[in-house]
Amino acid sequence: MQTWLGVLFAGSAFIVCVLHAGDTEELRFPPSRIAVIGAGIGGSSAAYFLRHKYGKHIQIDVFEKGEVGGRLATVDMEGAQYEAGGAVIHPLNLHMKTFVKELGLHVRSPTSSIVGIYNGDDFVFQESNWFLINIIKMLWYYGLNFIRMYMWVEDMLDKFMRIYRYQTFEYSFSSTESLLHALGGNDFITKLNMTIDENMQKAGFSQKFIDEIVGPAMRVNYGQGVKINGFVGSVSLAGTDSGLWAIEGGNKLVCSGLIYASKAQLIKGIVTSVEEKIRPMKSGGTVKLYELSYETSAGSQLGLYDIVIIATPLNRGLSEITFLGFDPPIETFSKHYQQTVATFVHGRINTSFFGCAKPCELSEVLTTSNPKLFFSSIGAVAPVKETESPYPGGLKIWKVFSPQPLTKDQLNLLFESHHAVKVKTWLAYPHYDPPEKMPPIILHDRIYYLNSIEWAASAMEMSAISAKNIALLSHHRWYGKNEQIDQEDLTERLKSEL
Ligand SMILES: Cc1cc2nc3c(=O)[nH]c(=O)nc-3n(C[C@H](O)[C@H](O)[C@H](O)COP(=O)(O)OP(=O)(O)OC[C@H]3O[C@@H](n4cnc5c(N)ncnc54)[C@H](O)[C@@H]3O)c2cc1C
Ligand SMILES: *[C@@H]1O[C@H](CO)[C@@H](O)[C@H](O)[C@H]1NC(C)=O
Ligand SMILES: *[C@@H]1O[C@H](CO)[C@@H](O)[C@H](O)[C@H]1NC(C)=O
Repeated sequence: MQTWLGVLFAGSAFIVCVLHAGDTEELRFPPSRIAVIGAGIGGSSAAYFLRHKYGKHIQIDVFEKGEVGGRLATVDMEGAQYEAGGAVIHPLNLHMKTFVKELGLHVRSPTSSIVGIYNGDDFVFQESNWFLINIIKMLWYYGLNFIRMYMWVEDMLDKFMRIYRYQTFEYSFSSTESLLHALGGNDFITKLNMTIDENMQKAGFSQKFIDEIVGPAMRVNYGQGVKINGFVGSVSLAGTDSGLWAIEGGNKLVCSGLIYASKAQLIKGIVTSVEEKIRPMKSGGTVKLYELSYETSAGSQLGLYDIVIIATPLNRGLSEITFLGFDPPIETFSKHYQQTVATFVHGRINTSFFGCAKPCELSEVLTTSNPKLFFSSIGAVAPVKETESPYPGGLKIWKVFSPQPLTKDQLNLLFESHHAVKVKTWLAYPHYDPPEKMPPIILHDRIYYLNSIEWAASAMEMSAISAKNIALLSHHRWYGKNEQIDQEDLTERLKSEL
């Protein structure tokens, strides 16, 4: 069936080009087939935005080798599902908000937690149930750093939010640097070249605050300390804001919803290569198409496409895609992704390990950087369905993040008792190491790389922003609308437009 359809559609793509395409003008006619490789939030939102931009006649094929959702996935513990990958969404992530609304999904508010920050020996900071006590503690330990951090992040968010206006007016960017520059000028670009540590020192924050508050936030969100770049660091700090949310039933539901809404064809298979094919036309000219080779349960197959969108990291150890015969060659990137292991434990936490007096109220433990610590964070988690009990059998479910899988001894140290354990190992997000050079978005004439943006910051909303950018960019480039690409001073220009 698959092959049949493949041949049929490849045939029709070819005919459309033969009929309409002149030699130089060939790209001015509508493309007929677009391939999206990957059905995570990046690929599924790309399918959705492509459909909006190109209309109902184009065929969109989404390839997925594993599960729809990618790094949005749940694990089953004692009969309920828990977020194992991307878990929380910021209240100002407007694409994610729109998806939930348009797809008829519902918002779930994660339960609030009482946080302690552990340095390997003691708690350097411990939240209390009492709001006022928290404020007094914060002021006592860190002066006005907390308030300044809030304002600092707010200022960055303000600039970042410009993207939605630009995208509403269909402006697009041909590189991640150009996109960031349009939002926050050189200030945003230089953040890629320094660590969040350097960035915040320059902004006047105290080293104690950076080590004890900022570091633990980086470790829980990105499994790395304050040496990550200033941009992803700031995004990570925004993740400490209030009002974070998730999707009822699991964040991955947004991906299957978007693919369904886009009327794309989901092809369960692994793409192994992309090659440019030049086909002669009856009129004497030629047409350029990309040929994808992919493996499905029905065997090896081929498909021809006008435009290809790569919505998965092209990094060593992560990608099986080879690009055949391109000059200059398109290579996978040598930088690596950070391993993060999520261990789910149903049991009783060992309060004496943390030196927390019984009854210990802590429901989330973050950590400062200390080589002797074998984990980054531990927190009690709630099921993805609000109707399920957060304490199955009277005990909480804990999620531990660590760079390496936990040994039996380590589990016995952290937990007084436990009876169910599930482990999910991720190549989770880039291993950030500034100065950071962004991978290209345009890999070839009509091949686009959605995950370039992850090297600025990896988050669901970042993938969705990149997806919309590529839907617009590919369209503008196809039709030669250069005035919609890489424009400077957009903020000024858009002030007059309502
Ligand atoms: C533990 C963890 C916690 C996180 N926490 C948060 C959070 O709280 N908030 C947040 O916003 N973000 C968070 N993130 C980051 C967020 O999950 C990612 O940035 C986002 O999900 C990336 O989506 P993507 O579609 O770009 O990539 P992916 O989700 O990786 O999707 C790529 C897809 O492509 C498929 N694929 C790969 N190669 C091929 C091939 N050759 N052929 C066919 N298919 C292929 C893969 O199977 C995969 O499904 C977290 C990530 C992890 C791992
Ligand atoms: C950032 O560093 C790169 C080299 O890694 C350099 O090419 C670029 O000019 C730097 N940009 C800024 C704004 O400092
Ligand atoms: C709990 O932590 C203490 C202190 O680190 C340790 O001695 C003990 O073995 C741990 N395990 C249990 C089950 O108490």
